[in-house]
Amino acid sequence: MSSAKFITLEGSEGVGKSTQCTLLANAIAGEFGQSLCLTREPGGTALGESVRSILLETTLPPMDAMTELLLMFAARAEHLSEVIRPALNAAQWVLCDRFTDASYAYQGGGRGLGADAISILENLVQNELRPDLTIILDLDVDIAFRRIENRGQTDRFDREKREFFEKVRQVYLRRAKQFPDRIVIVDAAASIEEVHGAVREIVRKRLL
Ligand code: TMP
Repeated sequence: MSSAKFITLEGSEGVGKSTQCTLLANAIAGEFGQSLCLTREPGGTALGESVRSILLETTLPPMDAMTELLLMFAARAEHLSEVIRPALNAAQWVLCDRFTDASYAYQGGGRGLGADAISILENLVQNELRPDLTIILDLDVDIAFRRIENRGQTDRFDREKREFFEKVRQVYLRRAKQFPDRIVIVDAAASIEEVHGAVREIVRKRLL
């Protein structure tokens, strides 16, 4: 069995996920000495990035929730076959900025599609593959919401109401309880350095 690890980083808008992803990638490739494939969803392939543009575009008419879910999984299928599985097969660690837990949180929770439809697609598209470790950065919705409001440019998800992000957060917290062997919650209210320290230690303890 390959020793390559598949790590995903999750969290609602405004929790500092992209910054933490970069810092963790540097730690894995540097300090931990692992060959790393850093990627993201939706995206990570040419097709996936095109799908991402459609998903985040604010000038298109409102999108049906099921269409949104299927586009997420179409991009994911491509990502798995072109990037994630080849990297893991080549003994590279994969760090993915969001993965299927985001579909449970945003489409299942935020859009109200529920978990069953997502579970069917998860099994269909991923077969047995699940991340070895998922870290969810958690932050009070009001604080996260204020951070988003201060952003210059917003995408289709950033423009959702507070209630949407509350639902997203609740699904993430529920999933962490449901899958304690895989998912760890990190309090994102601390400083960038403190959050990074916590994330790095979780990866070290669980995967090295
Ligand atoms: P980002 O903010 O991490 O760049 O991700 C783009 C948006 O895509 C973010 O608002 C969350 C959303 N998203 C979903 O709604 N479902 C998914 O399955 C994924 C991967 C992302």
